[in-house]
Amino acid sequence: AFEHAVSEHAARVLVASNRGPVSYAFREDGTLDARRGGGGLVSGLSAIGPETDALWVCSALGEGDREAVRRGIGEPGVRMLDIDAVVHADAYNGIANSVLWFVHHMLYQTPLEPVFDAEFRRQWVAYEAYNQAFAQALAESAAPEAAVLVQDYHLALVPGMLRDLRPDLRIGHFSHTPWAPPEYFRMLPDDIAEQLLLGMLGASRLGFLTQRWLGAFQSCCRQVLTDYDIDGHWPKDGSPSLDFRLPGHRRRRTELGVHGLGADADFLRERSRRPDVDERMAALREQIGGEERGPGRRRTIVRVDRTELSKNIVRGLLAYRTLLDEHPEWRERVVHIAFAYPSRQDLAVYRDYTAEVSRVAEEINARYGTPGWTPVLLHVKDDFARSLAAYRLADVALVNPIRDGMNLVAKEIPVVSEAGCALVLSREAGAYAELRDDALVVNPYDVSGTADALYHALAMPDAERAERSKRLSAAATALPPQQWFLDQLHALESLDEGGRPG
Ligand code: G6P
Repeated sequence: AFEHAVSEHAARVLVASNRGPVSYAFREDGTLDARRGGGGLVSGLSAIGPETDALWVCSALGEGDREAVRRGIGEPGVRMLDIDAVVHADAYNGIANSVLWFVHHMLYQTPLEPVFDAEFRRQWVAYEAYNQAFAQALAESAAPEAAVLVQDYHLALVPGMLRDLRPDLRIGHFSHTPWAPPEYFRMLPDDIAEQLLLGMLGASRLGFLTQRWLGAFQSCCRQVLTDYDIDGHWPKDGSPSLDFRLPGHRRRRTELGVHGLGADADFLRERSRRPDVDERMAALREQIGGEERGPGRRRTIVRVDRTELSKNIVRGLLAYRTLLDEHPEWRERVVHIAFAYPSRQDLAVYRDYTAEVSRVAEEINARYGTPGWTPVLLHVKDDFARSLAAYRLADVALVNPIRDGMNLVAKEIPVVSEAGCALVLSREAGAYAELRDDALVVNPYDVSGTADALYHALAMPDAERAERSKRLSAAATALPPQQWFLDQLHALESLDEGGRPG
């Protein structure tokens, strides 16, 4: 018997994530406006269709979302949890984004950070409560033996908590971030590191974007869970798994898998040809200036990111400045289109970083700009249609994160760019594993090296650029979101009852 009353409308497939597929904002008259979120997960889930009665459990994020929950407004197939706003803030801003994100992206300035003190412990309690709220909601909403696909570092404890409530479920967890190497992960207090890993191992199956992140997770388990008799299995064919001993000498096994999320070619090609994108292309061309066609046309270096510390936007700008400095022949002949959209602005470091991005961009424009040429076009207001317009115009894509789970922009630009683009790509992005052969690969800390790569990308013969772009595009779309989701679902459903690998 389940400890929870399972509702009549129990779902056979469930997805859980902090950010859901829809969000609500207040209109001026006080009514609520629903906005559909974009992104791989949204289109991936839509692929499984209504007949599977899938349910997406997510968190109410702003006041609009909370009000929607209170008024009982919602989308079919979406259950939004109205978790106490203070608990959510401590869990999301405090633990998820200021600790776990920092650990996995190795973002701490270590002489001063991190400090795991009483404040951290207080936030950790909120993180547990937030994870418990998801586990309860999933336990109530899942049909017997249903498949539950839990997403990301916000919900690392959910698999273990949910297994305690509903041992019958097939529980998957997917990490959209990198995984930290053990020497960095072990900065976390020992008990917390252990709790996180055991929470994840409550899943029947854990998914990662690349072999590298999967390997790091496995190394962390070996080094941290020394009391659990960890044993790895790496069969020649079939999925690897980790075996470990729980209190009471029971052994459990968790399967591991790599699923490298790709770009959604059909969606991108269709969406990027709509009139709103055409309009923005015309506006961007205006801002780029110079001749529209012919050998004299200005080339573009395009980047599109959240203004995220790990995206390395400032070093990207410094590399562009170095290029203009060392190759004066490119002045007036190239424009750097840099879209840096607001992200996590509740956190002071993100606000400071946002200001630094603007400062460096302005400095470059002041130093090199001429009446007819603005070297950097920095836009900070989120506009998806304009991003697609920039993709279409891209001659060079700059993707130089200091660490990134995958980076879908690296995969999207080659698909959409009209003339074919050269890709300058950080070796620390997950996408490197799939795109390395045709990208110009950089060490993201090496500003001079990145400037050289930009130079070679600009100087690359058009035919070679087009050829490489075609191969990049093919590699980038090999695992579209729908297939990415279904592969995981099928892998989970093919496990034995209770999610134990056979
Ligand atoms: C990354 C994470 C996602 C997250 C997204 C946006 O891609 O893996 O889980 O939703 O960033 O961040 P935000 O904090 O705005 O949800």
